[in-house]
Amino acid sequence: MTHQAQAVSREEEQEAPVVYTTEREGLFGPPPGLARLNERQPLARMRYADGHLGWLVTGYPEARAVLADERFSSRAELRHPPLSAMREEGGPRPAPPGVFAMMDEPAHRRYRRLVSAEFSVRRMRLLASWIGQVTEERLAAMEAGGPPVDLHTAFSVPIPLRVICEMLGVPLGERGRFLRDIEQWSTFRDGGNVGERREAFAQLAASMGRLVALKRAEPGDDILSGLVHARDPVTDEEASGLAFMLLVAGFDSIAAQLTMSVAVLLTERPDLHAALRADPGLTDAAVEELLRFLSVTQHGPLRTALQDVEIGGQVIRKGENVMISLSAANRDPRRFADPHRLDLGRANAMSHLAFGYGSHQCLAQQLARTELRIALAALLRRFPALRPAVPPGELSVRPNRPFHRLQELPVAW
Ligand code: HEM
Repeated sequence: MTHQAQAVSREEEQEAPVVYTTEREGLFGPPPGLARLNERQPLARMRYADGHLGWLVTGYPEARAVLADERFSSRAELRHPPLSAMREEGGPRPAPPGVFAMMDEPAHRRYRRLVSAEFSVRRMRLLASWIGQVTEERLAAMEAGGPPVDLHTAFSVPIPLRVICEMLGVPLGERGRFLRDIEQWSTFRDGGNVGERREAFAQLAASMGRLVALKRAEPGDDILSGLVHARDPVTDEEASGLAFMLLVAGFDSIAAQLTMSVAVLLTERPDLHAALRADPGLTDAAVEELLRFLSVTQHGPLRTALQDVEIGGQVIRKGENVMISLSAANRDPRRFADPHRLDLGRANAMSHLAFGYGSHQCLAQQLARTELRIALAALLRRFPALRPAVPPGELSVRPNRPFHRLQELPVAW
């Protein structure tokens, strides 16, 4: 029996708290045991990797309540690690300057405002045709190489990587190195790779420093140049932190969501694959429902109670950590009827929490939506006979990643 399954009992006092893992139920479900925890114990006790006894939220209303409540802090230095590979020597430290995802107001708002216009709906409308071109170039390269290919490395990664690198102004020659360092830094192998992660972080920090120096000396038409040459410019450290955060969050997430979206259509729902090919007008609805259904973000959002707070009849004490499982909350039957079914006609799919909720809701959700809609529609249009190149039983999950995905998705057409 898994730890999660043990926590399902109503005899709460006698039960072992949940211990979180990044395993998933099947290829596409939430971590084992969590999907049904939301029905019985939407706010459960959870044992963090350093022994801290905090909480795990798997219920939809409870997740929204925590994420909307500023009595819960996002500050890095208050966090306990949900996984042992996330432990840091000497304990957690404050977020580096600029890394506003792990800050509270007013610092969070100040930094977020510096970049929010670059990710607005208006800005995305201007970028859409360029993103379309980037996508077509990738598809042409895939076609020229011929099948089979791993869709993740040939399609899902290169599109968002190129988009965020060009938005930030990362030179072409640096991109491969970023990809490797980010992959290493954001892999969490239990008991294993704290040292490797620290080394990768140092490399990334040095690369960011060089990038900011380049933008100071030779400004271009990109976000980083804008930040360092603004009328009220940010410091080099702040610019490095902002760039680091945007790069780390900016392609792995979309790449995972894209690969998993195609995988579920090809392996489990050929009916929906056919429906989307026949009517590309369904793509927007499909992208929202796939965001809900797949919820690729692992182990987070994370919050810490700044005072005692009552949520769903339970008191979360000051200092206690709360981790929200978006994949479980997005399958809460109190919010989504028949939640384990992928349903393109779901009227309230848009109310999913895949991008979080409240003041820290994903800065780049419109960029993510734009890339996902364009890439999915173009892929199905170019390769109407797209199919897995291996039996679905051979597909496996890549463990220990911040965004849930397969090791690879070999396809043919
Ligand atoms: C499918 C793709 C994506 C998913 C599922 C996703 C998910 C999320 C979630 C759940 C949060 C909330 C974290 C919290 O409350 O603590 C978040 C925040 C954030 N995301 Fe995304 N994200 C995606 C794409 C992106 C991209 C492409 C970028 C950057 C280019 C990005 C940048 C950010 C930033 C900067 C924040 C912090 C916002 C804040 O604290 O105010 N995300 N994202």
